[in-house]
Amino acid sequence: MTDDCSLMTFSIHTLPISGDTILAPMDGYSDWPFRSVCRELGSAMSYTEFINALDVLQGHPYNHRKLVFLPEERPVVYQIFDSDPDRLLEVALRLQAHGPDVIDVNLGCSAKQVSGRGAGAGLLRTPEKIAEIFRKLTHSLGVPVTAKMRLGWDDASRNYLEIARLLEDHGAAAIAVHARTKAQAYGGQADWDAIAEIVQAVRIPVIGNGDVRLPEDIERMKAHTGCAAVMIGRGAVGNPWIFARQAREAVPLETVRRTVGVHFERTLACYGEAHGLLIFRKHADRYLRPYAPPVEIRQRLLTTSSVSEFQSLLDEIFLSQI
Ligand SMILES: Cc1cc2nc3c(=O)[nH]c(=O)nc-3n(C[C@H](O)[C@H](O)[C@H](O)COP(=O)(O)O)c2cc1C
Repeated sequence: MTDDCSLMTFSIHTLPISGDTILAPMDGYSDWPFRSVCRELGSAMSYTEFINALDVLQGHPYNHRKLVFLPEERPVVYQIFDSDPDRLLEVALRLQAHGPDVIDVNLGCSAKQVSGRGAGAGLLRTPEKIAEIFRKLTHSLGVPVTAKMRLGWDDASRNYLEIARLLEDHGAAAIAVHARTKAQAYGGQADWDAIAEIVQAVRIPVIGNGDVRLPEDIERMKAHTGCAAVMIGRGAVGNPWIFARQAREAVPLETVRRTVGVHFERTLACYGEAHGLLIFRKHADRYLRPYAPPVEIRQRLLTTSSVSEFQSLLDEIFLSQI
């Protein structure tokens, strides 16, 4: 992590960003333990998992955990979602008090329970609401407001240029673009040409996103689109070394073991032992995939409710690779 402005790559309003790769917000994954590991390896800033505005207003118990971040993670982005401009404003004002550097509005979630109620990618169908949201938030908040969008609702309504221009006109300080429509969900290929078109259409920084899996994809996306930075989601799960532009197969076993240990420790600190172990299973499975652990050991690893057994099984798998 570095705050050295000489390494500044771009800025979000007046906030300098040092680096050109960013861990994507991912519900169930981008908690502070994983974000901080990625940030230490080169991710330039930390987006939280999305935060439901209704949950904030109703005081949902998970809220506190979602809002926690380590000081070293800064710049920190709180991502919120809802369909109602006034509710989003009220929640953004409340969350601002917790000290994020940026508030991001989710215009991309394709899940039915979100997009179906007009939030997330559902907002792409109501550009006038997006304009109202950004007008209200940018006038009232003291931090930059950004958006993370998709290309449109479906193939017949790829309105990404209209949305990107509208965001810029209503004060958005940067736009992250997952280059798929809502209808595509996670299928097919991300359309990097569309990211390039958006880069040409606006003056604010555009963060490209979709299908970056290997270190060489980072340069490829930058060259293809001219984006200010590259956002990486699924390609970082089990592979935070992508932010150090290291090929996964070139990461020494001892480094993997140490990083997995740190990530696991932080996960237990964040959630407590029982819940932390449950949360970490999916990460462990992805970290260990390249080593193809025996089916029986993997099964025990992914089902045990004992932290010490989990740790012994991890050790056994790593030792078997030496
Ligand atoms: C499990 C999972 C959870 C996600 N949660 C969020 C979220 O909370 N907010 C958001 O904007 N995008 C979310 N996304 C979308 C990612 O940020 C990203 O746009 C998408 O995965 C495409 O990038 P990738 O090809 O690098 O994975 C999620 C994706 C996945 C796979």
